[in-house]
Amino acid sequence: MQVLVTGGAGYIGSHTVQKLLDAGYGVVVYDNITTGFREAIPTGAELVMGDVRDKLMLSRVMKDKKISAVVHFAAKLIVPESVEKPLDYYENNTAGVLTLAQACIENGVKKVVFSSTAAVYGDASVSGLITEQSPTGPLNPYGQSKLMSENVLRDCEAPHGLKSVCLRYFNVAGASVSGNNGQRTKNATHLIKVASEAACGKRESVGIFGTDYSTPDGTGVRDYIHVEDLADLHVLALKYLSDGGSSQIFNCGYGRGFSVRDVIDTVRKVSGVNFKVIEQPRRAGDAAQLVADSSKIRKAFAWTPKYDNLELICRTAYEWEKR
Ligand SMILES: NC(=O)c1ccc[n+]([C@@H]2O[C@H](COP(=O)([O-])OP(=O)(O)OC[C@H]3O[C@@H](n4cnc5c(N)ncnc54)[C@H](O)[C@@H]3O)[C@@H](O)[C@H]2O)c1
Repeated sequence: MQVLVTGGAGYIGSHTVQKLLDAGYGVVVYDNITTGFREAIPTGAELVMGDVRDKLMLSRVMKDKKISAVVHFAAKLIVPESVEKPLDYYENNTAGVLTLAQACIENGVKKVVFSSTAAVYGDASVSGLITEQSPTGPLNPYGQSKLMSENVLRDCEAPHGLKSVCLRYFNVAGASVSGNNGQRTKNATHLIKVASEAACGKRESVGIFGTDYSTPDGTGVRDYIHVEDLADLHVLALKYLSDGGSSQIFNCGYGRGFSVRDVIDTVRKVSGVNFKVIEQPRRAGDAAQLVADSSKIRKAFAWTPKYDNLELICRTAYEWEKR
């Protein structure tokens, strides 16, 4: 099966491409290399430079490469930036999915695995685990752009037979355990990446945005999932759709929350570097706590995570950063 991976030169996309190749799929990466890197694309996958908003080009690639499924990562994903430039996010992310769905329908591609996010939930479940039934209510245009994308895909199933699995990722972190791949993102805002950069002397300090949340230590709590576990879930999602599975939304996390201070302490421990931390006011668009109830995906895919360990996540991220 030939799979088109949009955004396959990016962090999560490139790890998933490797897993798809390992599972025997043919992979065509479709990427405009805005935040991705050619060198991140694993050997064995072909790169087509293109933009997901370019329907003609997308359609031609699907036809020429005999694509039968799409894994759609391509998006912008910086929450504070989305608050400042909402239209860029609706255009790239939501209009991008619209174009992608049109191209799929035109070319008889019936299977899409979509990168969604816990940001669709907003602050709905401050005290407990978030299930797929928890109310949505994005706090920022990024989350909104993804929720709208999910809805576009959902509405295409009945009339067009386009089946989708929307994977709502919680916080993705870490690097491949083999040491071959990791996060290259420039000016990253992801906490574990930022803290790893600080531990390597690439940043002077790490900011904590908000110390007065109603969480045990006052800082934001998140569910960190290792990038390789998440990549495996995409392979399982494709198999699920190929086996005739219906369109579904799944949370992707471990179901355990760690605070910003927990993460900083862990990166300091694995690196042995006591980097500087600066406490700052809350940022617009940030939720206090986002922790997944992941029982639905564990059951549907008979999935057991391999890397549910904050220390291992931080260590792989730090080792990659050093290298
Ligand atoms: N990193 C996280 O913690 C996280 C959490 C939740 C959801 N996600 C989602 O996962 C997906 C991948 O995120 P990532 O962390 O790998 O980001 P990334 O920036 O490393 O990867 C995104 C890739 O998409 C490409 N791209 C962006 N817009 C494009 C367009 N219009 N046309 C073609 N290519 C385009 C970029 O060049 C890049 O290679 C995104 O959809 C993001 O919203 C990420």
